Amino acid sequence: MILFDEFTGSISYNYHMSKNIKIQHCSICAIWLLIVMSAAGFAQESRVVWKPVAAGIWSARVGTPESIDLLKAAGAEPRTQALAKIGAAAFPALLHKSKARVSRGQTHLRFPLQEDEQLYGLGLNFKHVLQRKRIFNLHVDHYGGSDNGRTHAPVPFYVSSSGYGILINSAHYLTVYAGTGLRKDSERPAKIKDRNTDRTWDAQPDSDSVEVLIPAKGVEIFLFAGRSPMEVVQRYNLFNGGGVLPPKWGLGFTQRVPTLFSSDDVRKEVDAFDEHGFPLDFVGLEPGWQSKSYPCTFDWDKGRFPDPAGFAKEMLERGVRLNLWLNPYISPDSPIYREIKPDTGSHTVWNGLVPDLTLARPQRIFKQFFMKTHLDIGVSGYKIDEVDGYDNWLWPDVASFPSGLSGEQMRQIYGLLMQRQTADWFHQRNQRTYGLVRASNAGASALPFVIYNDYYDHRDFITALCNSSFIGVLWTPEVRASKTAEEWLRRMQSVCFSPMAMLNAWADGTKPWTFPEVERQVKEVALLRMRLLPYIYTAFAQYHFEGKPPVRAMYLVEGFADKSAPAGGKLDSTANPYAAAIRQEVKDQFMLGDSLLVAPMFAGQSSRKVILPQGKWYDFYTGDYAGGGEVIEIKPGLDRIPLYVRDGGIIPLIPGALRSPGSNEILPLEIRHYGVSEGRFNLYDDDGVTFDYENGKYSWTTLSVKKSGGTRAAGEVTQPANGQRSHYRDFKWAFMTNQKN
Ligand code: GAL
Repeated sequence: MILFDEFTGSISYNYHMSKNIKIQHCSICAIWLLIVMSAAGFAQESRVVWKPVAAGIWSARVGTPESIDLLKAAGAEPRTQALAKIGAAAFPALLHKSKARVSRGQTHLRFPLQEDEQLYGLGLNFKHVLQRKRIFNLHVDHYGGSDNGRTHAPVPFYVSSSGYGILINSAHYLTVYAGTGLRKDSERPAKIKDRNTDRTWDAQPDSDSVEVLIPAKGVEIFLFAGRSPMEVVQRYNLFNGGGVLPPKWGLGFTQRVPTLFSSDDVRKEVDAFDEHGFPLDFVGLEPGWQSKSYPCTFDWDKGRFPDPAGFAKEMLERGVRLNLWLNPYISPDSPIYREIKPDTGSHTVWNGLVPDLTLARPQRIFKQFFMKTHLDIGVSGYKIDEVDGYDNWLWPDVASFPSGLSGEQMRQIYGLLMQRQTADWFHQRNQRTYGLVRASNAGASALPFVIYNDYYDHRDFITALCNSSFIGVLWTPEVRASKTAEEWLRRMQSVCFSPMAMLNAWADGTKPWTFPEVERQVKEVALLRMRLLPYIYTAFAQYHFEGKPPVRAMYLVEGFADKSAPAGGKLDSTANPYAAAIRQEVKDQFMLGDSLLVAPMFAGQSSRKVILPQGKWYDFYTGDYAGGGEVIEIKPGLDRIPLYVRDGGIIPLIPGALRSPGSNEILPLEIRHYGVSEGRFNLYDDDGVTFDYENGKYSWTTLSVKKSGGTRAAGEVTQPANGQRSHYRDFKWAFMTNQKN
């Protein structure tokens, strides 16, 4: 291999990484060097050569990509047919200008950026959704309070408001300069201003590129096109296997119990939920279900859980699933310790061995043990903890692994590997799972896990929800504890409109009814989530079949951030608060599915602004007109979380119950229509627990509202075309909005 060192002007010959002969700069060498440089394509920037891989998706290989990458680790398999359904998309012409350079063992990428483009994505960020002019060192870690790239899912994927997305498929720590760093040969040179006298002087002049530094000799990159940011995200998710379709019970309510709870304590907990009339679908057992942790034995504690199989069976009979906490670091007291030891990394984590999960043998050892002692007795899922960081807890970057992967690469993919493994075990049993994980990365769309963390800022949790929608991951703004009843209620209201409605009371055993003054409201919102399950389940089916995430940042909503002003408005931000608000950053409201806009309230807040996209929007609770293409100021009171439905929106509801619907349960459906326009909703259904939907065992029922004779609206239910039946009967229409409005 020949490498060129730009700075010393010398060439290195690197024979199998062992011999290194340096030839000093001389005139003959210089000529020869130029020949070598151009032949090998090193050091100088060259154009990225994009090749089509699917409709609207292109890839390029720069230098020599490494054998492990994020998509391989995630096991992502493109859903070719679903991608074909979206149709073709033109290559974003500007991206022909993408450049790459491999030099001194590093790869540098440069993608063009226009003046009016905004960028989204680049990891699970908690502070911002607009990522232009930011720098990220994408690095799996526990989020530490600033959006610097160190986070639970540092996904190297960005979506442009101009309708394309770029994925850097590398398992290294990457640095992304998202429109910072102005080159001297910039196509849009900044106007030089005198800071002494000119108040418009800009400390961060606009850059014409996104630049990426990868500490490796090559990388594979992908380009996703789309007519809108949403279409880009759809292609990204479908390319990665389509979004996960959780079991129905996964969308019900979950409570995690204190570490040292025994099976008797859990029984009492379930009784208490039932007595209080509070929904509960699965219980999370924290570290103490094991004989020892940390490090983990993965073996039931005989004192606290004398009969795990009997206990799991009893819980299942009561309609309650069990989720087990673990981190993958193996205790000397674990039954698999000796056998797995040769297949573990050089360093320990909390004195536990770190299995090299890229190898077949440790995978098999894990699988045999976990299947026998957990899945076979009825455990329904896992919480995969501490696969993210912090630095002084996890293995250091100098760690080595038997597969030859570096500590750095292993860190970037470990969460993916654990998710994929456990998901595969359940898949083999034709049983769906839905769990929690603290680290993920690109390629995770199809993995049945929701990210959580120990950070606890309610507002930032909502921003993370918005950001999750760009990068193919799910996030839960879990509720742990609160200082006041108000905070408790506000957090509970938010979590009920997220991918996992979770109370994580491992530290102090807080219950939904801990604050009696808001017990009624907390119960109401939890039951509202249970009522909305057909709608939420359909939003997940859209994630799976069409790639549309269930929770959506406003910037993914069609027309939301268009440059055309909302109806009747002006683009001038002083005269048009809508345009001004969008430009500022919208990160405290989001869409759940196609029709529902969620605007959480935070403790201490009695009013808030809600940005209603173009069109007409209606209050979910009353059906009254709320506005459209404008910023409204609301004072909703404590009882309810503000929810709005778009004009023509159809929301199906089942009766509020304490458990999610069972696979043989037949339910009546209330179908609500909002607004004055005709509407249509394709309601998804299947057995809710198996993977039979992969073989066509599912149904789409069409719920539509048509208008006849001026204002009279009528609802119609069209049974599925493929002959499959849904679980819904007895349709009752509710026209929420006075049609004369
Ligand atoms: C933390 C985790 C918590 C809880 C705890 C138990 O690392 O984030 O949710 O599971 O461990 O020890």
